[in-house]
Amino acid sequence: MQIAIAADHGGFELKEFLKAYYKNKVIEFVDLGTYSEESCDYPLIADKMAEYILAKKADAGVLICGTGIGISIAANRHKGIRAALLYSEQVAALAREHNDANVAVFGARTQDKNEVVKYLDIFLNTPFSNGERHCRRIAELG
Ligand code: RB5
Repeated sequence: MQIAIAADHGGFELKEFLKAYYKNKVIEFVDLGTYSEESCDYPLIADKMAEYILAKKADAGVLICGTGIGISIAANRHKGIRAALLYSEQVAALAREHNDANVAVFGARTQDKNEVVKYLDIFLNTPFSNGERHCRRIAELG
C-alpha cells in the first residue's frame, strides 16, 4: 500500500516518527514534505497532497499540522478530497466506512503519538462500506 504523507513545520516531527514507525511494514510512505522544522504554510502542503491523491499516485494520504485544523480546511477545499481529522478509534473507522475519507489528518501539538498510530492503523485497514446511503451522500458533496 502506498501512502503519501505531508506536514507543515508543526507536524514535521510527527511525520518523521510515523515514517520510522512504519519502516519495513507493508506500508510505503511517499514523503511530500516539509523536510525541516523551518516555518512553512500549511495550505501549500495541503495543495500538494490533494494534487498527488487526485492524480491517483497514492492509495491514501496523511496530513499533519499543529492542530490538524488548518491543513484539514485547506485539503477539503479540493473536490474529491475527503480529509478527516481522526481523534478516536471509532472516528477512524467511521471516516472510512461512512465517508470514504482518502486523507487522515492529525494534530501534532494536540495528539499523542501512540494514539495517532492506533487511529492510523484503523484508518488504513478499514474499507468503505459501499452502502447506498453513504455513496449517495458522497456523490452529493459534488
Ligand atoms: C503553525 O504554527 C500552525 O498554525 C499550524 O500548524 C496549524 O496548527 C494550523 O491550523
